[in-house]
Amino acid sequence: MDIKTAAKPASSSALVFFLRAGDKIEKHDFFRNLAEEDKNYLRLFIKHRRDDDFSSCLLLPSGGKCLIFLAKENKKNSLRKTIVAMRRVISATRREKVKEIAVGLNDFLTHGLKTEETAELMATQFEMANFEFNDYKIKPKDGWKFVEKVSVIGRESRTVGKAISAGKVIGEEINKARTLSNTPGGDMTPARLAEEALKSGKESGFRVKVLKEDEIKKLKMGGVLGVAKGSAERPRFIIMEYFKGAKKDKPIVLVGKGVTFDTGGLNLKPDNYIYEMHMDMSGGAAVIHVMAALARLKVKKNIVGLVPAVENMPSGSSYHPGDLLRTMSGKTIEVLNTDAEGRVILADALEYSKKYEPQIVVDIATLTGAAMAALGQRASAIFSTDRKLEKEMIEAGEKTGDYLWPLPLWEEYEEEIKGTFGDFANIGKTRYGGAITAAVFLWQFVKDNSLSVGPSTPKSGLRGSRRTSSAPAWVHLDIAPRMTTIESDSLAKGAAGASIALLVEFLRGHR
Ligand code: BES
Ligand code: ZN
Ligand code: ZN
Repeated sequence: MDIKTAAKPASSSALVFFLRAGDKIEKHDFFRNLAEEDKNYLRLFIKHRRDDDFSSCLLLPSGGKCLIFLAKENKKNSLRKTIVAMRRVISATRREKVKEIAVGLNDFLTHGLKTEETAELMATQFEMANFEFNDYKIKPKDGWKFVEKVSVIGRESRTVGKAISAGKVIGEEINKARTLSNTPGGDMTPARLAEEALKSGKESGFRVKVLKEDEIKKLKMGGVLGVAKGSAERPRFIIMEYFKGAKKDKPIVLVGKGVTFDTGGLNLKPDNYIYEMHMDMSGGAAVIHVMAALARLKVKKNIVGLVPAVENMPSGSSYHPGDLLRTMSGKTIEVLNTDAEGRVILADALEYSKKYEPQIVVDIATLTGAAMAALGQRASAIFSTDRKLEKEMIEAGEKTGDYLWPLPLWEEYEEEIKGTFGDFANIGKTRYGGAITAAVFLWQFVKDNSLSVGPSTPKSGLRGSRRTSSAPAWVHLDIAPRMTTIESDSLAKGAAGASIALLVEFLRGHR
């Protein structure tokens, strides 16, 4: 989609009037230049319709088109509502098969956001709303219903223009990740995911190295190899590097779960739970396209992306319940359930991240159904060893519409994942708090366990910092709740592209 600033709307564009409570249509920037007959028509229309949230596409007496949106909220309107409103503008435009629109930037100014921030956010949300996964459909005779051109009227400055391009880049990368996630598991194999990473690296400007099974074996990644055992599709370990920051700055490592299909393995999932499991690589897709967005935005930071990619299948060669897997760290995992596979492959990736002596490690994974049980489908779960970082991420989420909510990361929970014959069991002892036991399991592969016995007492009560001196700060995002969109997102069905916007925002701003 072409989104650009312009001095005035082109005659071919439909005018968008986005009005919030208290806004008079006569005051709108587009109203002044209308023909008298159009003005009268709109006045009359508005007079009879001022009650509720609604949108309408009108053919004006002079021949032009306009789209009117009335929203109940006022200018102090929460950012959350503005984000959805931006998406609704595009979805309504698409429904009406309108291809070109002119929007006033002033319409969307929101309490707490600078003009440039509004412009960037708008471009991202417009792109996201202009997406649909139709790679496997025949093109209809009259074409796809996409918006082709948006003219942004209001402020034609260089900074606003730049903000719009940046927002567009972020939206495009989110949509590319959504395409990867939506692609069926039969096609999106570990090898294909690795190819997509290579392609993205070439296009956007970051380094990609793909390890095949022999190299994964050399590294002794028993977790990755264990989960991959049952599948005809062989695993890959994707390494992405983008070093454009100061030499002295330690990198931030992003680790994404890349399970290209999760059947559950021998602990096979029931039919209604297996359905969307081709999207179990959404964390991996997010990491690939966060890297791409940062590279395209030329962000001056040192960032590494790691994606262990496997398929979790039941077969004569599958890993078994009861198997003891020796991970790259030397710590063993007692597999009590083959469906808790994400944490098993992430254990190796987290160990691999130490090679970079990172300042921060962030993992992103569609890890547990329990996170969905806890939070519903409107927020991902965040766990962290560092309160400040946690807060910073939650704030980045509020700004981008990628909402996060914290759950506890306490050592008390470690008892739940003590192994009988191995170091750590891959599921908890009870069926309660599954998102937390998964997080606490991952934690064991971030921290130096030899230190964890004594000195990691929190600094300020139970919610204090729990970093041991040698371990990096760590954030775990369980994005299972936001794997797919819901009706009220006003986005296409399928993958939601969760965590990408928030990570880009966080990584650009983090100092
Ligand atoms: N990929 C699933 C989690 C998931 C569920 C993601 C629904 C998105 C939507 C994960 O590998 C899994 O199967 N987790 C199990 C863990 C259990 C066996 C301890 C779960 O959540 O049921
Ligand atoms: Zn699973
Ligand atoms: Zn899974």
